[in-house]
Amino acid sequence: MNNLLFPVLFILSDGKFHSGEMIAKHFNVSRVSIWKAISEAEKLGVEIFSVRGKGYCLSHSVQFLDEMRIKKSIGEMASWFNIKVFDVIDSTNNFLMQEAPKGYPHASCVATNIQTTGKGRRGRQWQSSLGENLTFSFLWRFTKGAAALSGLSLAVGVSLIRSLKKLNINQALLKWPNDILIKDDGVYKKLAGILIELQGDMDGQSTAIIGIGINLNLSKNQLAKIDQPAIGINQFIEEKINPNEFLGIIIKDLAEVLAKFESNGFNHFQEEWQSYDALQDQAISVNQRDGENISGRAKGVNNSGALEVITEDDGIKTFSSGEITIRRGE
Ligand code: BTN
Repeated sequence: MNNLLFPVLFILSDGKFHSGEMIAKHFNVSRVSIWKAISEAEKLGVEIFSVRGKGYCLSHSVQFLDEMRIKKSIGEMASWFNIKVFDVIDSTNNFLMQEAPKGYPHASCVATNIQTTGKGRRGRQWQSSLGENLTFSFLWRFTKGAAALSGLSLAVGVSLIRSLKKLNINQALLKWPNDILIKDDGVYKKLAGILIELQGDMDGQSTAIIGIGINLNLSKNQLAKIDQPAIGINQFIEEKINPNEFLGIIIKDLAEVLAKFESNGFNHFQEEWQSYDALQDQAISVNQRDGENISGRAKGVNNSGALEVITEDDGIKTFSSGEITIRRGE
């Protein structure tokens, strides 16, 4: 990676114009070196305006993630966590999946300013770019095996809703299994997604890599790349959120939820999850991996986090995986 890339982006992070000449002087390098750093940033999807006579400018101001600031937000519990921030990485989940078997510490949070090949659920891509999303993964080791972790991703959804409430964002809801949605102009839009990958035994110890992507400021460019309605936090709150403070809040809430989940399982979160259920009583279709589609009315989740659906013949079907679509006009 170009050594000047992040120092230059840091100068541009105020969202104002800076001339190539001034930046070059600041780092005591040639203007060509600055131009090269800018081209590399553009290759990484950073939107930079270049105007003759004015210089370079980011499409919006950016607050970089920073380990010290995240720790400051966590406060007195900070030493409990291992926090690592990358400038650029392919995927924070991939990083932890590779490092976990080598003994990467319990309660680690790995975040990145730029994620180049983020992974979404069901093999999809997760779009993110500098300052537009909060992207991180959390590593938690359970004494229980993977078989006992059903409902974990739903509990993580509850944890995120709790963190959002601390920012006074009270309208976020959950879509089974674990999307965070906001209703905007009558349409549910995705605010955040969760991807959990597990390692270890089914019934011995296990490690969960909990990947979370939260939309902060979505540019038109990024919205165009996302294959479903999406929304960023800053679109509906007055004061821009500080990503370092927010990540600190999320980390503390996650640790509390995961510790509770370890001792009580999803049972403890079932009622709270239901109170944030975006789908309750709605006409839905459950699309299963084998291509089968089952229609019905969403009832809620059971105490292991499986979705219960009242089918057209008034029976109840339970799903532990599947993709939900809300059927319109019913
Ligand atoms: C979804 O499809 O809704 C889940 C999206 C999860 C994206 C996050 S971003 C941080 C972490 N690293 C990844 O590669 N994916 C997850």
